[in-house]
Amino acid sequence: MHKRGFWKTRFGFYLAAIGSACGLGNLWRFPYVVGENGGGAFVLLYLIVAVVIGLPLLIGELSLGKFTRRSVLSATSYIDGIHQHGNRFVWVGRAAVVLSLIVLSYYAVISGWVLHFTTQFLVGVFSPESFAQRGNMEVLLNNGWLQMGLASVHLLLTVGIVLKGVQEGLEKWIGYMMPVFSVLLVALVFKSLSLSNSANAFRFLFYPDFSKLTWSSLIHAVGHVCFTLSVGFGTMVTFGSYLRDADHIPTAGARVTIVDTLLSLFAVLILFPVALGASNTPLTDPGLLFEVLPRFLSQLQGGVVFGIAFFICLYLAALGASIGLLEVIVSNWVDRSKVSRSFATWITGGAAFVLGGIAAVVSAYMRGMRLEGRSFLEVMDSLLINWCLPVVALGLSLVVSLGIKTVEKEKLFVDQNKIASVALFPHWLVMIRWMAPVVIGVALLLQVVGLILTGI
Ligand code: ALA
Repeated sequence: MHKRGFWKTRFGFYLAAIGSACGLGNLWRFPYVVGENGGGAFVLLYLIVAVVIGLPLLIGELSLGKFTRRSVLSATSYIDGIHQHGNRFVWVGRAAVVLSLIVLSYYAVISGWVLHFTTQFLVGVFSPESFAQRGNMEVLLNNGWLQMGLASVHLLLTVGIVLKGVQEGLEKWIGYMMPVFSVLLVALVFKSLSLSNSANAFRFLFYPDFSKLTWSSLIHAVGHVCFTLSVGFGTMVTFGSYLRDADHIPTAGARVTIVDTLLSLFAVLILFPVALGASNTPLTDPGLLFEVLPRFLSQLQGGVVFGIAFFICLYLAALGASIGLLEVIVSNWVDRSKVSRSFATWITGGAAFVLGGIAAVVSAYMRGMRLEGRSFLEVMDSLLINWCLPVVALGLSLVVSLGIKTVEKEKLFVDQNKIASVALFPHWLVMIRWMAPVVIGVALLLQVVGLILTGI
């Protein structure tokens, strides 16, 4: 096995873990999932699932990484090895890595859309006519090759950063990106809350109307929590493997969850006043953010500056999360074979390019086709996030609860100087052993019932 890198500073770990968690999931996906599931009641459900399922799973994955000092594939096979029970858990590691690659490809295409709008807004400062012609979603959705080109630019940037390794690449670049990102974001929240629709947006987002929840809402919350916290891809196992002995996992997990959740709440606060102003309906479709926001902003005084700031934020978030996804695959590969880090990075980036490119071109050709009123992108998103990801996250929770002895888990969780960690340990055990598997299982079942009742 190769010698593992470590985070140079504790802050470096936070930057990378938060950078990986905070991504398109917060700023692009969360708003439309909230819109799709009716607003306030779903926001409440999401917050509960984040604390009760997401945080325990995140702590579990970090613990698995720190305990084994390996990435997810080697970690799961190591656990199989110590229990001498064949290949019981390694399939979970394999599934996590395959899922990371598929999500990275899909992510590259959406990041390409973000690049498109970032450049269109920048061009729009000098040439508003060009923005009016090219700054819309139709141009992109009809042109699979353009989407493929943009995805390749994004993947090249991601590969360039990951090539540098843990300290030089991840820690340094995310360290540069995060402060810029935070300042831009706070400015955007203030701007958005000054719009006339902010009261309506508040009511939609924070007044819970439980009749709006559907059979699928629970799995939408679970899937999105896993996606946004980067749980179920093995990302956090890899990041945990780079933690130093003195780093306290539950504190790290709680901080990542808090920042990630706040960012998602910021995202809906930024977007819903704008979306309601533009179309009087909340965002309910994956493409809608890109359709509604640029059109609305181009008509608003100072809207171009707002647009540039928003899309730069969105791009920085997408880049940070893509780095995390690529890092998982590369670290798994480097851990288990003799290939060099740069070879693994280029080949993985290339594979993501091919997969993402095919998806982009196919979706452009299948534009008119819909399955039960859903586009190709929506179907793919739902398959990945609402089916595959919760299943792999469930598998990883079993690896942690059955594969690591309670006394080892206690050593990883409890810090005698942090009295709360002593008290919380039995609760975490219940959450990871019982709560997470049961809730994910029930959520999947409800989704199936919903599909049967609505005639699939
Ligand atoms: N956690 C990443 C996101 O939310 C994948 O976008």
